Amino acid sequence: MQHAEWICIVDFGSQYTQLIARRVRELGVYCEIHPFHLALDAMRAHPPVGVILSGGPNSVYEQGAPQIDREVFEIGIPLLGICYGLQLIALHHDGAVDPAARREYGKAELRFDDQSELFKGVSQETVVWMSHGDSLTRLPERFEVIAHTENAPICAIGNQEKKMFGVQFHPEVVHSTEGRTILSNFVYGICGAKGGWNPRSFIAQAIEEIRATVGTDRVICALSGGVDSAVAAVLLHEAIGDQLQCIHIDNGVMRKKESAQVVEAFRDVFHIPLKFVDATDLFLDRLAGVTDPEQKRKIIGVTFIEVFEKEAAEFSDAAYLAQGTLYPDVIESVSFKGPSATIKSHHNVGGLPEHMNFKLIEPFRELFKDEVRNVGRELGIPNHLIDRHPFPGPGLAIRVLGEIDRERLELLREVDEVFLDEIRKAGEYDNIWQAFAVLLPVRSVGVMGDARTYDYTAALRAVTSVDGMTADWARIPYNVLERISNRIINEVRGINRVVYDISSKPPSTIEWE
Ligand code: XMP
Repeated sequence: MQHAEWICIVDFGSQYTQLIARRVRELGVYCEIHPFHLALDAMRAHPPVGVILSGGPNSVYEQGAPQIDREVFEIGIPLLGICYGLQLIALHHDGAVDPAARREYGKAELRFDDQSELFKGVSQETVVWMSHGDSLTRLPERFEVIAHTENAPICAIGNQEKKMFGVQFHPEVVHSTEGRTILSNFVYGICGAKGGWNPRSFIAQAIEEIRATVGTDRVICALSGGVDSAVAAVLLHEAIGDQLQCIHIDNGVMRKKESAQVVEAFRDVFHIPLKFVDATDLFLDRLAGVTDPEQKRKIIGVTFIEVFEKEAAEFSDAAYLAQGTLYPDVIESVSFKGPSATIKSHHNVGGLPEHMNFKLIEPFRELFKDEVRNVGRELGIPNHLIDRHPFPGPGLAIRVLGEIDRERLELLREVDEVFLDEIRKAGEYDNIWQAFAVLLPVRSVGVMGDARTYDYTAALRAVTSVDGMTADWARIPYNVLERISNRIINEVRGINRVVYDISSKPPSTIEWE
C-alpha cells in the first residue's frame, strides 16, 4: 500500500524497534521499519515525513557495526535518533562516543537544559528508561544539549534548525512515563504529520486496493479459525463479495466443536462461501504410531498442503490465494539478523507451496497482530473470535504427548473444554496469553469410590506473555484450579490426576512438544 504520509524507522537491530513502530502507529501515523542498509532506498522511493533511527546492540566504532549513509542527515527530513541512533548522529557530526564511559540500565530522571519542541508538555524530572553501554562524551557540532540525567550529561541533543534530535533513553518503552508525549512531539510537532491512520482508514484503503488488484478474479482463502485468516476472510468478503471462496479443513486435531464453529460463524453468520472438508481420517491415519513431535508437524504440514491443493483445484478459475501474513514476518524476512537455531519448526505449517500457481494477496503484510484484531473489531467480528488465545497449526497433535489416536484426542478435548470453560467463568481468559491441556502418556493409580483406578494424567498449562517468545506461568487462583481439577476428574472418564505446569519459558517452552 502506498501511504500518503509515513515515518521511516531505520532498524539497527534493537529489541525495541517494533515497539517504536507500534507507538508511532498508536499515535495515528503510519510507519514502516526498514533495515539500515535498505532504508535510504525506501526513503528515496517515497519520502517520509520523518525518520527515526532505532537503537542497536553494537557500538558505533566497532568493526562491522551497522552504518547508514550520511545522506540521511542531509536530505532535510526531520530525524530522531534513539540510543544507537543518537550515537550515529554524533559519529557523523564530529561528536564523540565513549564505549565504556558509564553503562546504564534502568530508570533515570531527565532534566531539561533548554526549551525544545521535543519535550513540550513533558514534566521536569520525568522518568525515562535507559539501556546503553556507550555514552556521548563530546557534543556533536551545531547541536545543543537539551536534557541530561545524573549519569548522562549529554542525554538528549537537538539541532532545532535542522529538526534533528537524539535521545539516549528509550521513549518507546512504557517505563519512560512520558515517552508517548515525546514521540508525539516529534511526529506531530516536529515532522508536521497530520495523522488519521487507524483501523477504519486502513479498511477503506485496503478494500479499494483489493478491488483494484483482484478485478473480477476469484480469491481462495484457507480459513483455519485463527484470528488472522478470520479477519482476512471478512475483509476480503467486504471488498469482493462472493468472488471469495474459503476452504476450511478439519485436520482431526482441532479442539472440541472447533470446525463446526468456524462453519457456523463464517458460512451462517457472515455468509461467506465456505467449503468444509473433513480430512480427519487421512490425517489420523498418517499420524498413527508417530511419536516424534517434529515428525508430527511435518506430516500435518505436508498433508494440509496436499488436501488444500486438491480442494482448491476445484476452483480452477481462482487466480489469487489470500494469506494472513503479518508485518513481523515481513520484517523478519528482510532483517539482517543471522539465522537462529530452530527449536521447533513452527511457521511452516499451513505455508503453501509456490508451485500452486496462485498470485498471493496478503492484506495484513503491514499490520501488527493487535492492529489486525482492531481491524476485525471494526469489521464487526465478535470479540470471542478476535481475542482468542493463539492455537498452533499442528493443534492437539502436539498436546497428546507420544502416540495419537482418536480415544486420546477425545480425552484431551474434554479436558481442554472444561479447563477453558472455568478460566472464562473466572474472568481469567483475557489475562492469559494461552491456556490449554496436555495429555501425558503415563497412567497412575487413583481411587474413585471404593475402586482403584489406573488412568491418564492431564497437565494444564496457562502462561502470560507479550509475544510468546518468553512466558511465565499464570498465577491462576487456587480456588479456580481446585474447581478445574474437580470437574476434570469427575467429568472426564479416563483421567484420574491433574497437574499444573509451573515452568517458565525459557528454559521450558509453551507447548510440551
Ligand atoms: P513454544 O512451544 O515454542 O511456542 O514456546 C510458542 C508459541 O508458538 C506456538 N507454536 C506453534 N504454532 N505451529 C504453530 O503454528 C507450530 O508448530 C507451533 N509450535 C508452537 C505455541 O502454541 C505458542 O503460542
